[in-house]
Amino acid sequence: MADASKDIVDGFPGDKKIIVVFVLGGPGSGKGTQCAKIVQHFNFTHLSAGDLLRAEITSGSRNGVMIQNMMNEGKIIPPEVTIKLLRRAMLDSANDKFLIDGFPRDEENRAAFENITKIEPEFVLYLDCPEDELERRILSRNQGRADDNTETMRKRFRVFKESTLPVIMHYDLKGKVRKVDAAKPVDEVFEDVKVIFAPLIAKV
Ligand code: ADP
Ligand code: C5P
Ligand code: MG
Repeated sequence: MADASKDIVDGFPGDKKIIVVFVLGGPGSGKGTQCAKIVQHFNFTHLSAGDLLRAEITSGSRNGVMIQNMMNEGKIIPPEVTIKLLRRAMLDSANDKFLIDGFPRDEENRAAFENITKIEPEFVLYLDCPEDELERRILSRNQGRADDNTETMRKRFRVFKESTLPVIMHYDLKGKVRKVDAAKPVDEVFEDVKVIFAPLIAKV
């Protein structure tokens, strides 16, 4: 049982209890797709770390060029940048339930988020999908992303295995990972996701 007093983000109006679910999985595993469906059914606010970083590039921010260069190499942006964006989006929202998609990407992300926000996730939704299927999805995503090419995709797969899987292992040891088979069609994956979220919603 998590200590509720630790789940309060410094500066949150009314010191309300914040529910956070991390959504992890390889690039193209369907994190954004499933999060959109969870938002519709369970009234969460969806925060994609990758989307926030891309918005930072297009806004012409001082960090934009650095973020773009790192993304093009499939590298993980320093956590202070990403956490600042996540924290601002959480504070700007009136909601108290957040899906944080594509974060924490590595141990450094995880430790920094924990230190800064003191938030422990309720659980981690892990969308498990084999690489050949990820590859098909990324190469046909067609969203104009500079990192959706064969060379960067391979680097992103390597980063996922070397840096993100250990984070999933960390939460697995705490009994916090809810794994689904993400290789199935979208609606079938969501059937499994719904079963995972239903008890959480009943509880709060
Ligand atoms: P992520 O956010 O994990 O990178 P996306 O949600 O953007 O993944 O999905 C990557 C691509 O794969 C998109 O084009 C999306 O429409 C497609 N997609 C997502 N889930 C599935 C699925 N279960 N089966 C087939 N295609 C999918
Ligand atoms: O999750 P998404 O595929 O949108 O992430 C795209 C890129 O954004 C990653 O490959 C990485 O370069 C960057 N990113 C990051 N730290 C995160 C999430 C994404 O550096 N926590
Ligand atoms: Mg995404």
